[in-house]
Amino acid sequence: MSDGKREQWSSRLVFILAATGSAVGLGNIWKFPYITGENGGGAFVLIYLLCIASIGLPIMMAEIMLGRRGREDPVSTMKKLAKESGHSSAWGILGWLGVIAGFLILSYYSVIAGWAMAYVPKMASATFSGLNATQVDTVFSELVSNPMLLIFWHSLFLFLTMTIVAKGVRGGLEKAVTYLMPMLFILLIILIFYAMDTGYFMQGVHYLFNPDFSKISTDGVLSAMGHAFFTLSLGMGAIMVYGSYLPNKTSIAQASIAVAFMDTLVALLAGMIIFPIVFANSLETGAGPGLIFKTLPLAFGNMNYGTLFGTLFFVLLVFAAWTSSISLIEPAVTWVIKTFKISRLKASIITGFLVWLMGLMTVFSFNLASDFTISSVISTTHGEFVILKNATAFDLLDYLTSNIMLPLGGLMIAIYAGWLMKSQYSRAELDISIFWYRLWLFLVRYIAPVMVIVVFLNAMGIIAFIRTVVEA
Ligand code: PFF
Repeated sequence: MSDGKREQWSSRLVFILAATGSAVGLGNIWKFPYITGENGGGAFVLIYLLCIASIGLPIMMAEIMLGRRGREDPVSTMKKLAKESGHSSAWGILGWLGVIAGFLILSYYSVIAGWAMAYVPKMASATFSGLNATQVDTVFSELVSNPMLLIFWHSLFLFLTMTIVAKGVRGGLEKAVTYLMPMLFILLIILIFYAMDTGYFMQGVHYLFNPDFSKISTDGVLSAMGHAFFTLSLGMGAIMVYGSYLPNKTSIAQASIAVAFMDTLVALLAGMIIFPIVFANSLETGAGPGLIFKTLPLAFGNMNYGTLFGTLFFVLLVFAAWTSSISLIEPAVTWVIKTFKISRLKASIITGFLVWLMGLMTVFSFNLASDFTISSVISTTHGEFVILKNATAFDLLDYLTSNIMLPLGGLMIAIYAGWLMKSQYSRAELDISIFWYRLWLFLVRYIAPVMVIVVFLNAMGIIAFIRTVVEA
């Protein structure tokens, strides 16, 4: 797909599958349930859904549109478009931000995908069969407390990712998503039946969909917004690169709606599977990053054909992570090729090695360096603002990328597409009726930027600080 040649996706469906392959990943099945659990459930889910509809969807349309109009890597695309509309080529910074964000995200994404890989042989050898919650917990703790094991799986996953990236992604990617995504979906449906059988299904659904706003903090709102960007792969140029291969006649609006819908569906299904299991086994909703590695093995270990389904499930989870990780690093690799004028193979090896090194920070934050934490709390007369609490290196990376870099990238995309790009261009690209175009323009001009800025300021305690000053 790359090397500067402007190939195009063979059909709209292929684009939708590839973009869905990027969107659906660990974010949906691993991260969504655990951050929902950490932020008290329903209210978080509601804010997340609101962010998907009012910020995520319009920004996804904007990002695909910029990609298709520029038809280059994110840095060059932004420079080219800025020039076209008579603006500063400093907009190339947006592409830069994306290259760095993708690099940082992959460094920890690969470690977690490594956990999923480690669970494949465990599942296949029926390690969890008949185990209770405490025993499953022990298996997980033994894995993450062993740095050498984590390094092994992290290396393997990254190797697989970089192999595909080195070959150029398109061929393999198209096939992987065409077959594997539907299979993952079918397995999720099977697991829903298991969750129904626990007797706690309604309790899980209630937890997910009954908002209790007393349980959500300003930082929770920031996490919900950051996650909307993360789960849709927005704000860092990944979807822009995919959009750059989109044929001109494809409807960007329809494709975006399809991708956002499928992504949200997978996340909600995962939640409806995990939480009934949590309640049925008196587990902690706020168990953090280990949540699915404790609940799902419990389910598989106690159901008919659990060994088979469990193995298949973790294989598919690894594939879902794989199709996402390729899109995470593609912007960085294309940038390295262009800047240093080296082959795709060399660029992949160098980038891969740097990501691997960076990944060690995450590996050690679960064992050797788990005590190295930082906290950042702002106290005002309107309350305490906890920006980070006992954050390990992994927490810090996750916070910096999901909660700051991606929303910032998204904000810039919205401002560019809504305010600076000539409307004749955006109208021509989007090709939707005037009503929908106006609605889109309203969302990217006002709603998305204002929401991102307010949530930012609020989570950083700045709004409370200003109130304190004004009222003094
Ligand atoms: N959307 C992916 C997930 O939910 O797992 C993660 C991701 C992929 C984020 C690509 C950003 C990105 F550009």
